[in-house]
Formats: sequence, structure tokens, C-alpha cells
Amino acid sequence: MNILIANDHAGYSYKEKIKKYLQQKKINVIDIGCDSENSVDYPDFAHKLAQQFIKEEEESLGILICGTGNGVSMVANKYQKIRAALCWNKEVAILAKQHNDANVLSLPARYLDEKTVIEIVDIFIREKIEEERHKRRVSKI
Ligand code: RB5
Repeated sequence: MNILIANDHAGYSYKEKIKKYLQQKKINVIDIGCDSENSVDYPDFAHKLAQQFIKEEEESLGILICGTGNGVSMVANKYQKIRAALCWNKEVAILAKQHNDANVLSLPARYLDEKTVIEIVDIFIREKIEEERHKRRVSKI
């Protein structure tokens, strides 16, 4: 499984922390940028991730980080294969996987502490969609 990760300037610092965490778990991380806190336009990096993500194998996941998580999420959800979920706490992250089978996680860097970010990432890589009714609903998206 590959995890693709991209961010804007607001998400850079958490991107580095998430990368380190995933690499410690021996997960292959593909970093799409940006690579500093210098101001960039979030759509440039979200599009880059999405375009690469749609060529990946089914089990790959994406992580997008910007200030609110909304901008990158809006971009990613323009792509048919992507189900990007904005997650701001653990419960929402669990349900984004169990009910919506999210394959891209969007994080609001300016509204989360580091502990919560790592907990959400952990949930995102661990949880799976449950039960037929959720699969049926996702297939209708
Ligand atoms: C950048 O200031 C900010 O607009 C961006 O990180 C994000 O929140 C957009 O949705």
C-alpha cells in the first residue's frame, strides 16, 4: 500500500510529522509537496496528488492537508475515483472509513493538535468499510 501525501504551506509542518510517523510503521509514503511554509496555492498540490492517486492500486490512500481541510477536499472530490473526507476528530474519521470508505483524508491543520492528527491518521489507515448497506450506499455515490 502506498500513501500519497500533499499539502499547502499551512499543512507543511503536520505533513512532515505524519510522514515520519508512517515511515516508522514501514509504510511507503509518496510526498507530492509542497516542501516549505512559503505560500503556495492549495489546488496545485491537491490536483497533483489526485492525478497520481487515480493511477494507483485500489488499496492506496491519500492524505491532504491545508488550513481548513476544505480547499484540498473540494479539489480531490472532483475526481471520480476519489472519496475525500474532511476529518476533524476521531469519531468522524472512524465513520469516514466504516460508512463512506474514504480513500483520501483531508486534515484541517489550523484546527487540530498534533496528537489528534496522528490519531486520525492511525484510524484512517486501520479502519475498513463495514456492512453491506454502507457498501451499497457508497456504490451509489
Ligand atoms: C491558506 O491560507 C488557506 O486558505 C488554505 O490552507 C486552506 O485553508 C484552503 O482551503
